[in-house]
Amino acid sequence: MSKEYFSLIKRILPKKFGKKEQYLAFVKTYGCQQNFADTEKICGILHASGFGFTEDETIADLIVFNTCAIRKHAEDRFIGNVGNVKKLKERNKNLVTVVCGCITQQEEFAKYVKKTFPFVNLVLGTDYIKIFPELLYRALTSRASVCFNELDNLPVIQEDVPTKRANNIKASVPIMYGCDNFCSYCIVPYVRGRERSRKPENIILEVEDLIKNGYKEILLLGQNVNSYGKGLTEIIDFSELLRRIDEIPGEYWVRFMTSHPKDVTKELVDTMADSKHIAPYLHLPIQSGNNRILRKMNRKYTREQYEEIVNYIRIKIPKVCLSTDIIVGFPGETYEEFLDTISLIKKVEYSLIYSFIYSKRPGTPAAKMEDSVPYEEKAKRQSYLIELQKHITEDLFSRYVGTYQKVLVEDLDKSNENVFIARTGGNVLTKVYSNGKDDLLGKFVNVKIIDNTRTYLVAEV
Ligand code: 5AD
Ligand code: SF4
Repeated sequence: MSKEYFSLIKRILPKKFGKKEQYLAFVKTYGCQQNFADTEKICGILHASGFGFTEDETIADLIVFNTCAIRKHAEDRFIGNVGNVKKLKERNKNLVTVVCGCITQQEEFAKYVKKTFPFVNLVLGTDYIKIFPELLYRALTSRASVCFNELDNLPVIQEDVPTKRANNIKASVPIMYGCDNFCSYCIVPYVRGRERSRKPENIILEVEDLIKNGYKEILLLGQNVNSYGKGLTEIIDFSELLRRIDEIPGEYWVRFMTSHPKDVTKELVDTMADSKHIAPYLHLPIQSGNNRILRKMNRKYTREQYEEIVNYIRIKIPKVCLSTDIIVGFPGETYEEFLDTISLIKKVEYSLIYSFIYSKRPGTPAAKMEDSVPYEEKAKRQSYLIELQKHITEDLFSRYVGTYQKVLVEDLDKSNENVFIARTGGNVLTKVYSNGKDDLLGKFVNVKIIDNTRTYLVAEV
């Protein structure tokens, strides 16, 4: 990373914004965990360049939008928010605005942002964080807006980017970037490029460092963590990486996401079952329970193969909790095909489902498929699914009542000082009553589950 720009930026700040005790950045992140991990790097760079942070954009000197393109809804939210900056810019003509992330990786959208919001100073795509200090310096010293979003000829994964972590109990560690799967509905392979894995020694060093610094939960991130290792000179796969991480001493949990069902091997499940630190939780997006739709989605597995791997997981890790992603109303999905998804949900008993109404992404193969199902019908299907899942979760959670669980306490309940927010190994949200005495924050605690709602467990220490 071109660190000389940190001091260059520091020097330019008083000229750009006038002399101040603290220059403030407002950073807004949309979308997935990967985007939040990118934001931690952006904030690390800003911090090293002399910025502090504010959650009030009206007093900021610099506004950064880290955008998401996965569904139209995320794009619309960003457009609404960036539109509001115009008013702020009228009041403070020195305000600098940066737009980065998946939206601006798309050529057309980057042009649209520049044309519609001419006050935006810097537009950059997903992989440009590596040269963000240099680009920011150029944006701060130039009148014209600066734009970078070519995915080709990018430098290799940069390891020395400073990170300003948003949390001091749980940390995300990207292990790979990009995706080669090209699911027919998905924009990610077009905006995040081809799969690239970090070297195992760099990942291990980062995790060791986090654990030494008291982090209790490590979330390994990648669009498809199960294909970790492709293209590295050392021959290594995801199971081997997990085994090496698991050897790091300390009391901590490891989680990972996202796993593509086609790449979940028995070896991976065995590795989880035999490990000391891997939490009994797996996010395993099924997308649809119908084989014709799965084929049209280019998911490369059948419902039967998915069920087989779930059965194996349940045998090997009886305490496991599973969650999933489901797309409702993929182009041409009939009601009967949707009911196949419903029957699968009933069978698998997920603890959590993220369901999405299909959103057309220009440039993807599914965008050209005929889509005759009206939006209202899709919305009805989604409501049906959500309602069913509430009952499944409630039933699942009620079976915890009376049991003892190890939980990691991660926050205070803002509405009740006697209550801590925690999660079980299976990632189930748990509210822990503690008489307000002990400071349990950041600790593993054994609790007794005394009650449940549809969304969380209630426990006492
Ligand atoms: N429309 C709706 N949902 C989508 N996802 C990805 N692309 C789309 C789309 N075009 C969902 C998938 C994926 C999750 C991250 O977002 O379920 O697993
Ligand atoms: Fe998108 Fe499929 Fe890649 Fe996931 S695996 S990021 S859904 S293309």
